[in-house]
Amino acid sequence: MIKAIYPGSFDPITFGHIDIIKRGLEVFDRIIVAVAINIEKRGLFSIEERKSLIRDALKEYSRVTVDSFEGLLVNYVEKVQGNVIIRGLRATSDFEYEFHMASINRHLNDRFDTFFMMTAKDYFFVSARTIKEVAMLGGSVEGLVPVNVERALKSKFQTLMNQGGDINKLDTVL
Ligand code: PNS
Repeated sequence: MIKAIYPGSFDPITFGHIDIIKRGLEVFDRIIVAVAINIEKRGLFSIEERKSLIRDALKEYSRVTVDSFEGLLVNYVEKVQGNVIIRGLRATSDFEYEFHMASINRHLNDRFDTFFMMTAKDYFFVSARTIKEVAMLGGSVEGLVPVNVERALKSKFQTLMNQGGDINKLDTVL
């Protein structure tokens, strides 16, 4: 049984991530989507909100579970007895950062490897950051994120604006 860990910020989950998960299920028996708790990066959605959006978007996939972790990824993988780490690669610009991260992780713990999957061509330009920016500025993100995420983005930005948020200062949550 191969258990893969798919770590990330998932703020929020996009169809780019979901494409990686669906294709990952063809290769691995189980996938744990692991939301990283990063104290330095507040993000737009809370960790609980992110997990609940992921669970809702992936409820038909019984071999996928959703979790969060704090601290080093390799320690988490060890704790949940994972076998591999999955990461998606959109473009060559992702490569340097991913290569660096995979190398550090292997240095820290050489029992796991990182498997890279190329993002499907339809989602090459999709990143959580650009999704948030487009949604914040009132653009449509239809077809790029699941419907529950679309709704959550709308209501989150609405709430932030209603709380007197200045659109020019909202970039701290991107
Ligand atoms: O979606 P992201 O933001 O590209 O995901 C990055 C993530 C969360 C996978 C990475 O920052 C991570 O593994 N963080 C946990 C801390 C850690 O293990 N750091 C050492 C490797 S750089």
